Amino acid sequence: MSAPRAVKGMHDLLPDRTAHAAWLEARFREVARRWSFDEIRTPVVEPTELFVRSIGESTDIVEKEMYSFVDKGQDALTLRPEGTAGVVRAYVEHAVWTQEPVTRWIYMGPMFRRERPARGRYRQFHQLGAELFGDPGPYADAELIDMLVTFLREAGVADVEVLLNSLGGPEARRAYRHALVEYLEPRRPALSADSQRRLASNPLRVLDSKAPEDREVVAHAPRITDFLNAEDRAHLDGLRAALDRLQVPHRLEPTLVRGLDYYDRTLFEVRGRGGELGAQDAVCGGGRYDGLVETMGGPPTPAVGFAIGLERLMLLAPPPPPPPGTDVFVVAVGAAERLEAAVIARELRAEGLSVETDLRGGSLRSQLRRADRVGARLALLVGSDELARGVVQLRDLRAGRQREVGRDALRAAIRAERSAT
Ligand code: HAM
Repeated sequence: MSAPRAVKGMHDLLPDRTAHAAWLEARFREVARRWSFDEIRTPVVEPTELFVRSIGESTDIVEKEMYSFVDKGQDALTLRPEGTAGVVRAYVEHAVWTQEPVTRWIYMGPMFRRERPARGRYRQFHQLGAELFGDPGPYADAELIDMLVTFLREAGVADVEVLLNSLGGPEARRAYRHALVEYLEPRRPALSADSQRRLASNPLRVLDSKAPEDREVVAHAPRITDFLNAEDRAHLDGLRAALDRLQVPHRLEPTLVRGLDYYDRTLFEVRGRGGELGAQDAVCGGGRYDGLVETMGGPPTPAVGFAIGLERLMLLAPPPPPPPGTDVFVVAVGAAERLEAAVIARELRAEGLSVETDLRGGSLRSQLRRADRVGARLALLVGSDELARGVVQLRDLRAGRQREVGRDALRAAIRAERSAT
């Protein structure tokens, strides 16, 4: 059998990239704390029906991309393709509205979509998400978007602009859908095969097509923003005014639509602008979904949220400052000192220091080379003669200095060396 490989479109994160991912996750938690969001974790697997009902039957995700299976108990299950559906399920299942009028949650973790793999598009990817329940007003959207932009900036993305649109309520969407189909139908032959198919199933998605022939037709299509009723319009205007006041860069993009059916009113996206993401340029998508909690069996509850693609963010944001690394490398000069070297290493770890040893042994030279490679500043040389006298050699690997230190004075000596730089 040939050596097993990771599933196509699913990737290992080796330690350098894991460090970047963990740093971004920590920054996300920190920004969310300032906005009073708490973290929730939901299962990776949910009933298939949950995603069909929330994301929508005729979306690409549900039609083509879900990892669905029937388990040994005959339950129809799916690896979550996104986070909102599970978070809403949890909100309803735990009747969270009975405990607080407004709920602010963040979440992070792996999502699964069987898409065609490309740069920035994977079959297992990770999202950093936020959902805010219970506040229908445009200032909730603005507060959430402000948190998003603050995080992206603190993550190191220099040039952030939010693209905004409003899909209106159900009434505006119905009227718009009708007008759009009326406009597109006579132009059907000019559309791509994909868009011709979507025209029947989900015409708003034609607006989202990247095919040049579709872009040309769409450029003159009716705009959803002309179909908003007075309340929808006031909501959008309120959001834009709030973003202006909060100095959040934003732009109205009336052709913006998204690939999930649960949205109404506010939609937004943040795209990479330097070409780092290629065609997969959305680093974050979000919007309002005022009807979804009720669809899932809860009371009517307005909600708004977003999710950031962690891998795409890692393509856009520079890596974080390198971690402090190994403080001390403990070298056993000979085989007889290996156990005592391990004991010294353990004592120093108990002090909170990062300590590495090479208990395979090897020559002094090869161990010092390894100490250098792991970036240790200090090496402790543990030899039999020194052990007998209750001392070790403490070597500063950068300065090349070495001195003898009593075992009981070791901690203080290391602390002094560390604070000397
Ligand atoms: P979405 O636009 O489907 O929205 O995904 C959000 C983000 O996840 C995208 O902007 C992208 O960065 C990342 N993403 C999506 N698919 C992939 C993929 N195959 N590979 C890599 N990254 C990907 C949602 O998922 C909604 N739940 C967002 C939301 C939360 N709306 C309201 N609340």
